[in-house]
Amino acid sequence: MFCSPASPLAIAIALCSFNTLAAQCTARALLNAQENIWKSRTLHPTSLYRLKVEEAVTAINDEDLKSQASKVADFGTFTWIKSVEDIQAISPVADEVPCDEILGLVLDNLPYKHARPDGSSSEYDAGTEDEYRTLFIEPLATTIKAHPNTAFAVVVEPGAFPQYFNATTASTPSAHERNLARSYSVNIPVALKGLNLPNAILYLDAGHSNSLDWSRLRNSTADAIAEIYEVAERPAQLRGFATNAGDWNACGRDLAPGEFARADDSRDIRPSNEKNFIQILSATLGAREIPAHAILDTSRNGVSGLRYTWDEWCNVNGAGLGVRPSAETADDAVDAFVWVKRPGESDGVSSERGGDAVGCAARSALRPAPERDVWFQWFFEILVRNAKPKL
Ligand SMILES: *[C@@H]1O[C@H](CO)[C@@H](O)[C@H](O)[C@H]1NC(C)=O
Ligand SMILES: *[C@@H]1O[C@H](CO)[C@@H](O)[C@H](O)[C@H]1NC(C)=O
Repeated sequence: MFCSPASPLAIAIALCSFNTLAAQCTARALLNAQENIWKSRTLHPTSLYRLKVEEAVTAINDEDLKSQASKVADFGTFTWIKSVEDIQAISPVADEVPCDEILGLVLDNLPYKHARPDGSSSEYDAGTEDEYRTLFIEPLATTIKAHPNTAFAVVVEPGAFPQYFNATTASTPSAHERNLARSYSVNIPVALKGLNLPNAILYLDAGHSNSLDWSRLRNSTADAIAEIYEVAERPAQLRGFATNAGDWNACGRDLAPGEFARADDSRDIRPSNEKNFIQILSATLGAREIPAHAILDTSRNGVSGLRYTWDEWCNVNGAGLGVRPSAETADDAVDAFVWVKRPGESDGVSSERGGDAVGCAARSALRPAPERDVWFQWFFEILVRNAKPKL
């Protein structure tokens, strides 16, 4: 069944391989984007995240919870690249990746993307497109090239596409929407072209099932992606799209019956679950001969029905770790379930300081919460306790 736990045997085998000491790969990583690379490689659990989890475990008193929490570091997670400093930090991590693993990176610094009510902003908002290319994409490409034996999977700019699509279709776009639309149309092709490297596989982020009315807009959204793909000169290493990155949507309606089913809490947006959304987008992209395989973030969608509206995005109370990273998806359109968002890192601060307060004061949000990306022990323990399947 889609998004159901892997068999106990598969989990046991995966745990054994995770627990062996990482040995750096000495053979070239040549990735073929025609194939599902997650069938032959698993998501690398980085030592940096392991350190955070180990520290968190020492702060837990309950023995059961302690032992469950200590397992979290054995599963792979993505590393987020939000600044130039983050690029410099990749090299030591890239050095520790064995041949049968893949290092997950998230590109998250598109100018104007974060200038939303949550108040965060990109490093280059005030800068030019040239800066995104020269200060961000080119150094990242250099780092990836400097590690030809390491396999990389890159998720390109989570959450940007739905904003871009809305901005380009708005009848009277605001100044911010115009900036964002220009930034996306120039910078995303630059990223796809610049990172089109033999040891990297690219997934363009498409948002999530509830960020647009994908059903009604299926042709126009696919056309918008097609245009970007053409401007990027059809990058051979693009494998498809990523969904639900850092988000909370259930995999299928069977798992979240009735979530946002009523018009007044769904804002009439369909299709409300990732499986349905992936089917729609994959089919419409495929019909245009655009790479159409998906990876789906299941790092914290284990428990559904917790939010009051789909756009409650901050530190959701009661959330649980979802299906473990795996290529056993029971769906040809879905390459793998992956953990894109790192469990335990805060989505944003809940205080009145800064703009995160808007989203992080939502009814479903944990309060008090620390600044974005800072370790949030309370949240981490909730995710572990509510993990589904159980750890
Ligand atoms: C896009 O626009 C629709 C319709 O106005 C809105 O409901 C939705 O929240 C917007 N999505 C994003 C990601 O801005
Ligand atoms: C999308 O395009 C296809 C092929 O042109 C057409 O058959 C279908 O009705 C369109 N769907 C929507 C929702 O516009």
